Amino acid sequence: MKAWRISMWRDGSKICNFLIILFLVLSIFILNRMKSQYCPSPYGKAKELVKLEKPRKGEKNQLTVEKRQSSIEEDEDDEEEKNANIIHEPICQELNKRSDTCDARGDVRIQSINHTIFINSTKKEWKIKPYARKGDDMGALSHVSEWSLKPFVQVPNCTLKQDIPAVIFSINGYTGNMFHDFTDVIIPLFITTHQFHGRVQLLVTDTKPWWANKYKMILNQLSTHEPIDLAKDDSETIRCFPRVITGLHFHKELGVDSSKSPTGYSIVDFKVLLRKACGLERAATVLSSVRKPRLLIISRNHSRSFVNEKGIVGMAAGLGFEVVVGEAGVSTDVSKFARLVNSADVLMGVHGAGLTNMVFLPSGAVVIQIVPYGGLEWLARETFMKPSRELELKYLEYRIQEEESTLIDQYSREDPVLRDPERVHKKGWNAMKTVYLEKQNVRPRLDRLKNTLMEALKLLRAA
Ligand SMILES: *[C@@H]1O[C@H](CO)[C@@H](O)[C@H](O)[C@H]1NC(C)=O
Ligand SMILES: *[C@@H]1O[C@H](CO)[C@@H](O)[C@H](O)[C@H]1NC(C)=O
Ligand SMILES: *[C@@H]1O[C@H](CO)[C@@H](O)[C@H](O)[C@H]1NC(C)=O
Ligand SMILES: *[C@@H]1O[C@H](CO)[C@@H](O)[C@H](O)[C@H]1NC(C)=O
Repeated sequence: MKAWRISMWRDGSKICNFLIILFLVLSIFILNRMKSQYCPSPYGKAKELVKLEKPRKGEKNQLTVEKRQSSIEEDEDDEEEKNANIIHEPICQELNKRSDTCDARGDVRIQSINHTIFINSTKKEWKIKPYARKGDDMGALSHVSEWSLKPFVQVPNCTLKQDIPAVIFSINGYTGNMFHDFTDVIIPLFITTHQFHGRVQLLVTDTKPWWANKYKMILNQLSTHEPIDLAKDDSETIRCFPRVITGLHFHKELGVDSSKSPTGYSIVDFKVLLRKACGLERAATVLSSVRKPRLLIISRNHSRSFVNEKGIVGMAAGLGFEVVVGEAGVSTDVSKFARLVNSADVLMGVHGAGLTNMVFLPSGAVVIQIVPYGGLEWLARETFMKPSRELELKYLEYRIQEEESTLIDQYSREDPVLRDPERVHKKGWNAMKTVYLEKQNVRPRLDRLKNTLMEALKLLRAA
């Protein structure tokens, strides 16, 4: 590190360049900081929490990291490469408000029994919970185990050696809810591992065996090796790898930012992978005169269900749709349901995890999100509206009005629940969730909903 600095200062003409670069880099850094301070996350829950040691500002490698994110200083890259072999710090970085990742190279040894990763190329210690819900300490992260990254001191010998990179991630957190399965784990896993073209070992911590089994066909697309359940390692096992990434890269809900992914891939590449994994036939919707447009209604059972589902089905059939009603639960065969979704041209459902199935829709299909009563537009927007655009889908929203909500059967019209949802929101996520997400079913007026479905037909025909 010293050597690099000295050579920079010795060369007078470079000082000026260096200062300009430093200024640019710091500006980017500060702007990023401001952005993350003042643009809250969708759930407004993120607090500064994590026990990551952040590298001191001005350290060489801090600069390296920031530089990689901007493309201005290309002439510096060679120099970085030469120095990069010496020591790879920082091993761990905060990539954004939702995730930290540690990327260790050299001689990396994993002792699962006490959640320790020994790294020959560091002198620092780090700690990380490898699940992309950073900030949610009391919720998702309370069941995610913490891993320690340590320098080589009394390092145990390898018992198993693989000559490919490995990725450690937790599947506890909020998994089991399809939205979280995809936004917290599967898409971040895609972002992190797609660059390896299958030559990567997935290492699972906090295993739920059924989970890895449920999504086996997707994991098998990401890695040609069987995922390993680290909980099964015994006290003797020391796994050795030339590179270990701990924690997954997160960009945005159900999305990939192609400008940040390792080799520029996007959510469209993810859709290609899903089609392969689940055997989906349709890449795009094509309307034909011989086939009716197909409407898939995602049905929910316990909350936010359609009270008048039969009426909706009849009305939609009258408009010329072939209507299918589907309900996806925890035990649903994902590939089978994915094929049903892929056969649809319009997917309609009340806000909820089931709408995550839109990842399986062909491009050009229409998603209709029914937004329950109670000031939930922001939630609808962050979870499904924004992602739908990138997934190359068309999006329509149907907002439940007071008289279409079963809340009017439970509360007087003067109750703040109906009069003043903002007040309920101010009591916090749980209060809001109990009332508007758990206690509410919907009965959309058929004449209003008909307009939305006709709009959907128009969008399909315009494609
Ligand atoms: C770490 O191990 C790798 C692989 O054995 C080796 O090439 C590298 O020189 C080592 N680095 C340090 C700092 O010991
Ligand atoms: C590790 O391996 C070396 C060389 O094979 C051996 O000398 C040493 O005793 C081993 N260390 C442990 C802790 O088993
Ligand atoms: C890690 O596990 C090994 C093997 O069980 C044990 O000998 C060692 O003391 C543990 N280290 C720590 C820091 O707990
Ligand atoms: C959904 O509700 C219906 C009727 O209330 C019930 O028969 C069915 O078993 C429920 N399905 C699930 C998955 O709970």
